[in-house]
Amino acid sequence: MRGLAAFEKYLDVFAVTERELARRAFRRSPQCRITVAEDRASDELLGYAVTVATPFTYDLKPTVTLKELFVRKVSRSRGVGEALVRAVAAQALAVGAGRLKWDVLAGNRRAEEFYRRLGGQRVRKWIPWGMDERALAKLRGHPSPSRSRSTRPQKSRGREK
Ligand SMILES: CC(C)(COP(=O)(O)OP(=O)(O)OC[C@H]1O[C@@H](n2cnc3c(N)ncnc32)[C@H](O)[C@@H]1OP(=O)(O)O)[C@@H](O)C(=O)NCCC(=O)NCCS
Repeated sequence: MRGLAAFEKYLDVFAVTERELARRAFRRSPQCRITVAEDRASDELLGYAVTVATPFTYDLKPTVTLKELFVRKVSRSRGVGEALVRAVAAQALAVGAGRLKWDVLAGNRRAEEFYRRLGGQRVRKWIPWGMDERALAKLRGHPSPSRSRSTRPQKSRGREK
């Protein structure tokens, strides 16, 4: 995970520790599922995939999100990444998922090529949006008086996310 954090350049805010990961991923109701690829002879970890599931969406089927995928540099181009994604695909089907989704860091062309080769495609229908902690706090702390009275929450229109 640290390797992926370095690759995607968020090491400065990377907070996952072995203890926290064990606590979150290996409890009775795990917060994520981790699939690892190991070298049979040496037991060495070659790569991993982390998935999280949204139990249901508009079609009542779960959405599985591939949160992280990483293969150690020395182990790349040997099919490890493909094996991990195949395993994740089988897991998704096993829980009745209607889709698998993931984000690719802008500019990571090789990953795009890799996913395309496996049958993935860029989803153009949705544009990822978000709010960081600062924006959340700002919104909570300073509701705009002119807008908050007139702006009601919109009725859900059966969005995919
Ligand atoms: C993307 C990644 C998981 C692919 O794993 P892998 O084990 O190399 O994948 P495979 O061996 O099954 O397939 C390799 C193919 O993936 C593509 N590829 C993507 N990124 C690559 C990289 N950094 N190095 C080599 N090949 C890469 C190439 O098309 C490659 O084909 P080639 O071997 O003919 O050049 C791996 O390169 C990786 O961990 N990259 C850094 C992290 C990353 O980009 N993660 C995805 C986040 S969205």
